[in-house]
Amino acid sequence: MRELDESVDFLRRRGFGPAVLGVVLGSGLGQVAERGPVEVSVAFGEIPHFRIPGAEGHPGRMVLTQFGGVRAAVLQGRLHYYEGYSLQETVFPLRVLLRLGVRALVVTCAAGGLNPEWEPGELMAIVDHLNFMGDNPLRGPNLEEMGPRFPSLVDAYSPVLLKAAEEAASRLGLVLRRGVYAAVSGPSYETLAEARFLRWAGADAVGMSTVPEVIVARHAGVAVLGLACITNSLCREHAPDHREVLAVARAAAERLGHLLEESAAALVGGAGGGERR
Ligand code: HPA
Repeated sequence: MRELDESVDFLRRRGFGPAVLGVVLGSGLGQVAERGPVEVSVAFGEIPHFRIPGAEGHPGRMVLTQFGGVRAAVLQGRLHYYEGYSLQETVFPLRVLLRLGVRALVVTCAAGGLNPEWEPGELMAIVDHLNFMGDNPLRGPNLEEMGPRFPSLVDAYSPVLLKAAEEAASRLGLVLRRGVYAAVSGPSYETLAEARFLRWAGADAVGMSTVPEVIVARHAGVAVLGLACITNSLCREHAPDHREVLAVARAAAERLGHLLEESAAALVGGAGGGERR
């Protein structure tokens, strides 16, 4: 794809070397990119073919840094379907990131809690998902050079990466829940009936992102770890509020950063060479 090549060439000229770990930082979690020794940081607006995220809490930068000594390419912020982009447009920055040699991808997000036993501020490792966005980023002609027409999502979330994250969490004394993430288009938050329905369907958390990126990464054979920060509980009749979502995510970002640093070496070690690359 010509646009992908042009974006990748531009980033290489700006000093983006190869990176084995890819990280996408969701709402309120962007500060995690600035913990390590930042080598290069480029605004989305400077990169050819990149759109600029409009949502508050999404800086829109591509950063080359390290977590625990592991070279990582980071999307600091993402594009959302609810902004009016097609799903294909929202995943373009991720496809560029995957081209930098990424073997393991960590996708992070803020999410509304559906599990009544969980508290806002807790971190959840995603073990599976429900795609209720009503669309799929692979719809349309298949990009044969990236992956197959009908990729399996049975193994979407790597058990090896999950184990690496859980072991790192336990070394740090951090609580890391396990759960199913439901993706919806947004931007309105859920009605009480929708929240009940999603819980009944098997979801522990709901959000407006992440799943399209996971689909595209798995299409390319890249191993995925999903981490959601539960920013609000939908089990209570308390209306979610974007400012509150951002504040809770920002407060959890420190723990997420520790977890990435502590697990990074095992994540790239456990990712193998990628199945189809
Ligand atoms: N619903 C959907 N997306 C979200 C929520 C929510 O309650 N909180 C954070 N992202």
